[in-house]
Amino acid sequence: MTRAISLHDVSKAFTRGVPVVDRLSLDIAPGEFLVLLGPSGCGKSTVLRMIAGLEEIDDGRLFLDGEYANDLPPSDRDMAMVFQNFALYPSMTSRDNIGFPLRIESPGADPAPRVDATARMLGIEDLLDRFPAQLSGGERQRVAMGRAIARHPSAFLMDEPLSNLDAKLRNRLRAEISQLTRELGVTTVYVTHDQAEAMSLGDRVAVLRGGVLQQVGTPRAVYSLPSNVFVAAFVGTPRINLLRGLVRAPLDGAMTISLGKQFLRLPEPLSLDHRLLRVQQGREVIVGLRSEAVRIAKPAAASTGEVALTGLVEHLEFQGHEVLVHFNTGSSPAVVPELEAPRPRPERPDRRRRRDGTVLHRLRVRAGARRAGTVATLDPPGKAPRPPSTEPRVPGDLIVRTTPDIPLRHGMQVPLLVDLAHLFVFDQSGERICPSPARLPDLEE
Ligand SMILES: Nc1ncnc2c1ncn2[C@@H]1O[C@H](COP(=O)(O)OP(=O)(O)OP(=O)(O)O)[C@@H](O)[C@H]1O
Ligand SMILES: [Mg+2]
Repeated sequence: MTRAISLHDVSKAFTRGVPVVDRLSLDIAPGEFLVLLGPSGCGKSTVLRMIAGLEEIDDGRLFLDGEYANDLPPSDRDMAMVFQNFALYPSMTSRDNIGFPLRIESPGADPAPRVDATARMLGIEDLLDRFPAQLSGGERQRVAMGRAIARHPSAFLMDEPLSNLDAKLRNRLRAEISQLTRELGVTTVYVTHDQAEAMSLGDRVAVLRGGVLQQVGTPRAVYSLPSNVFVAAFVGTPRINLLRGLVRAPLDGAMTISLGKQFLRLPEPLSLDHRLLRVQQGREVIVGLRSEAVRIAKPAAASTGEVALTGLVEHLEFQGHEVLVHFNTGSSPAVVPELEAPRPRPERPDRRRRRDGTVLHRLRVRAGARRAGTVATLDPPGKAPRPPSTEPRVPGDLIVRTTPDIPLRHGMQVPLLVDLAHLFVFDQSGERICPSPARLPDLEE
C-alpha cells in the first residue's frame, strides 16, 4: 500500500541550458516522511510534479517500487497530491468533494462508507454537507486532505499545504498531518520553504538550493552537521552567526582564528578537527556559531574547551521566555547570497553533461553540484577585507540567547564564552571543514 520512490540523477529545464532541477538523486523509503526544503524558486514543486507525473523528466530516471516510471501516466501512479491552494469544487459539498475521486476510480461503487470513515478520521463529520464557501480555511484544508486520504493512495505529495493558514492553525494541522500519515504508514513527500516546519515534520529533510541537492538527513543531522554554509544558515532559528575569520597557525605559537578585532585561541593540544584547520593558515574562512555555542559569563567561569570574547550590546530582542542579544564583537558578518537575495542564480550550462567517466572526475562533478556555485561571499585570499561601510548593516554581528533575568542594557560591554565543541568552520566556497567532513551525519546518530 505504500511505496518506495527513487530519483536517479533527475534534471529538468524549462529554458534550454538552465536546469531548475539538476541531477537530483534521492531514495525515499516506503512509509517515510521526507521533506523537500529550500528557498522560493529552488525547484521543490517541480520535483514533486515530476514524481506525480505532471511534469516530464528531461534527464535521469524515476523508479516507483523499483520499477522504471518516467513514462507512467499520473493516473497509474496511485499518488494523491495536496496543494497550497486547496482546489475544492465550489459547487460540491464536502461529501461530494471527498467522494469525487472515488467515483471516478470505481464508477459503480458507493463511495459513502469510505467518505464517512475518512471524515471520522479527520473529525469533519459535521462539515460533510457544507459547500467550500461555508468553510474556514483550516476546514477547507481538512476536506482537501480528506479527498487525498479517501482514495487510499500509496503516496502523498504535499506542496506547502499549510502556508495559507494562520500560525496557530498551521501548528495544529502540522501535528495532525504528522500523526495521520504515520498512522496510515503512507510514503509522504512534503514541500516547504519553512525550515521549522521541515524540522518538526520530516523523518528526513532534503535541502535544495538552485535545483541542486545540498544535503539529505535527519533533522538532527542537518542541524548539527550541515554540509555547507548554506544549509547551516537555512536551518535553525535564530540563524547561525556567520563571521569572517582568518586562520593563523604559526609554527611556534598557538593557533588562532582571528575575528576582526578579537580572536579565538584554539586550546592545546589541538583536537583532530582543529589540527586539520592548519592547512587553512593565512586563509579567510567562515566561522559559524549557533546561538547555543556562546554564553554570557566571565573568563574565570570557562570550562575546558571554552574561550573568551567580549561583546558590546547593540540590540535586545525580548521573546518572553528568552532574550536574543545582538552583540558587536568587532567582526564582520559573512554573507550567504541566496539567503539575502530571493532568487538563485541560474546554473552554468556547461556543467550539464559528464564527458569523462573517471572516478576523480565524477567526485569533482558531485562536489561541484553540491555547491551550486559559491555559497558565501568572501574576498579572495590576500585581498584586504572590505571596509566596514560596504558591509550589510545588521544590528550586531553575534546573536546570543539568554534568560530574561540577566540585566543587560544597550552599550554594555559583556564577557562571553564560546564553546569550541560547537564551532563550525567553512572554507571560502562554503564547504564545511570543521567538524571534519569525514564525520558523516549518519554516523553521529
Ligand atoms: N512551467 C514553467 N515554465 C517556466 N519556468 C518554470 C515553470 N515552472 C517553474 N518554473 C521555474 O522553475 C523554477 C523552480 O520553480 P518551482 O515552482 O519548482 O520552485 P519552488 O521551489 O516550488 O518555489 P516556491 O517556494 O516559490 O513555490 C523557478 O525559477 C520557476 O520560475
Ligand atoms: Mg512551489
